[in-house]
Order: sequence, then C-alpha cells, then structure tokens
Amino acid sequence: MKDPQPSPSGEGGAKRRVRGGHRQPDDRNDSILRVIVRRGSSRIDRALPEWGGEEVIVRYDCATGAWIIIAIHSTRLGPTVGGTRLKSYRTFSDALGDALRLAEGMTNKFAVFGFPRGGAKAVINVPQGFQESQRVPLLHRYARLLRQLGEIFTTGPDVGTSSVDMDIIDAVAPGRAHSRSRSVGGSGSSSPATALGVFKAMGAASEIVFGSESLEGRSVLVQGAGKVGETLLDLLVSDGAPVAFTDIDRHRVAELKKRRFAFVEPDEAYAYPCDVFAPCALGGILNRRTIPRLRCKIVVGAANNQLHRPADADALQKRGIVYVPDFVANAGGAMAITGLEALGWSEAEALDRVRSIGAVTRLVLLYARENAVTPEEAARRIAQDHLSAAPP
Ligand code: PHE
Repeated sequence: MKDPQPSPSGEGGAKRRVRGGHRQPDDRNDSILRVIVRRGSSRIDRALPEWGGEEVIVRYDCATGAWIIIAIHSTRLGPTVGGTRLKSYRTFSDALGDALRLAEGMTNKFAVFGFPRGGAKAVINVPQGFQESQRVPLLHRYARLLRQLGEIFTTGPDVGTSSVDMDIIDAVAPGRAHSRSRSVGGSGSSSPATALGVFKAMGAASEIVFGSESLEGRSVLVQGAGKVGETLLDLLVSDGAPVAFTDIDRHRVAELKKRRFAFVEPDEAYAYPCDVFAPCALGGILNRRTIPRLRCKIVVGAANNQLHRPADADALQKRGIVYVPDFVANAGGAMAITGLEALGWSEAEALDRVRSIGAVTRLVLLYARENAVTPEEAARRIAQDHLSAAPP
C-alpha cells in the first residue's frame, strides 16, 4: 500500500487555508511551511507516541519539494547535537522513521560516555531528481529554521552532507553547524575521529574474544569504503591486519583497488569468512536475512542503526557473534568535534576521549557477559543510568 504523505499546509491552492495566515501561492515559493499533519493521514501518529523523544519539527520546502524533519530526542544531558542527513527516501514515513531512530541513537551515543549533550537528528528528504543547483538555497532555508530553533539544536555532517555544507549553514546560522572546513575556522571532517574510535572499539572486542588488543593477523572486512571506511582500512593495515572491503559505488571501488585493497563483491560480503565484519555504510544491515549468513566472530563498525530490529541483537548473540553497539563504536566523530567546538577541548583532550572508546567498549562487553544480556542491552542500560542521574 502506498504510504500517504502528510500535506504541507496551504497546499492545494486557495481552497485550503494556512492556519493563522492567508498566504498567496506566489509568496510561498521561497518559504518553508509549517506542516499540519491531519490525524490518520500518515503513520506519523503511530510512530510518535512509541518513540519517547521530546519534539519533532517538520517543514515542507516549497521550492524543492523536500521535507525537513528535525527530531529532538532528549535534552536531559544538555542541548542537542545531531547530524543532518540529506537523501531521497521512498516515503515520508521512511524519512520520519529514520530521523526518530537516529535521534535516539544520538542520545544513547552521548549518554553512554556521559558526554554533556542530548540527542537529535535532522533528515532532509529530497525528492528524486533533486538538482545540485538547488542545494545552497535549500541549505540556506534550512539554516534559517535552525536559527529560529535557537540553542536547542546544533548539527554536523552525516550521510549526504559534508563540512562544505556546514560552512553554508553556518554562514546563515552562526554557531549552529559543527565540523566546518578548517579554512573557515572549523575543526574539519569528523571522519578521522570516527574511524579511530571504531578502531579502538575493535581492539577492545578483539581483546575479549581473542585475548589480544592488537589486530595483527585478524582478518577484517570493511563494508562501505567512504571517508570513515578508508581511514579505518589504513589504521588496520598499519596494525598488521589483513583487510578487504566492499562497496556498491563503482568509483570508490576503483579508487580503493588502486590502493591495492582486496575487494569483495557486495552480495558476497555477509558470507565472507573473516574475524571482524565492520559495517561502515548504511543502517539496518544486520537483519533476519544477513545474520544467518555471517561467518565472523565480531561485528563492529561506523554505520548508525546497524540492527534492523532490537531482536537482531539476540540473533547475533545466539550465533556466538560479539556485536559492539554502533552508538558506542561510532561516537568518536561527534564527541571529538563537539568537544573541540562547544566545550573548549584541546586536540589532545579530544584524542584522549576518542581513545577512551576502547575502555568503554570493554566495559560494555564485560557488563553484558556478567549480566547475561546482549552488548546492545548493556550499553543501553549504562546510557540510561547516566540519563537518570542527570538533574531534571
Ligand atoms: N554524523 C555524526 C554522527 O552520527 C553527527 C555529527 C558529526 C555530530 C560531527 C557532530 C559533529 O555521530
């Protein structure tokens, strides 16, 4: 069944009124409209009550047909931080669902480390055929929305956005975008810190499973050779690990092959025999179909929301595979950059905090073992303890 889309207020011309205003169609082209979601008009009224977050801001961008969704999950530990994901989703509900889950992931990410920021996420669902020439004006309108929101939410790069986009946003909404280019005074890309954190988490998991933190001789398959995946491959090679990678982007595959990394076809990746499988592409890839095929001992990677459903953590456990929760392993980028830019950390402090992902991973895996729960559940409990201990 086709998922009905909520209608942007005012759509449908003169017949439908914009609540609280009488805008003419012509005035709307450059504006972002507040959305009125009619009851029963989409899965939004089912998704939201189950979510447990604080607020969702939805805007429809008339000029491009993009939906902007900002999900503020928790301000318990401080103002919220979350990446801006820009891509085309099949339906509005898919985009909303992604924003809600990703925002919750950010809350857990910061809380498990006791980092003083709350979790949020922005999704910009652009229509198929979105033109690159529309990007800057769209980001300017998005930035104006961020400015309106005040201090409650600052953003960083995510899937489909980069430091250059953060520069564009920050020019309109000063102080709202992290990870800007170094040339304009930002801290640059968050990818190196994310990759280092994943590497540390992998070392800790390896110590628990194989008895040594060094990855020398441990075969690792990296799924997704973007900026984080490539840096991770470099770190692994320098530690003496035999590595391979997979990717669906032909250009990336060609580039990494040039660097002499072994390539595995995407559909053979799950069944590829290795010690560690490192998901560094999109979410949802640990699921009913893929888990039975895995031939690894450890799963740890940089992608957000790797588990398709919560029960997939149990499925991994039953197969004897140690899964490091994504929000533990991939916290390095967001923590280091936010620490540097908003908390006054030095480079050395930021590096220390990223390295501490090793110790926190160890703690999570040992807690899981002692309490006979999955590492996912262990990490959620630790995060929840930190959230509960915060003053209301
Ligand atoms: N994409 C980052 C994440 O999911 C978001 C981020 C990057 C936030 C950089 C702040 C700074 O963790």
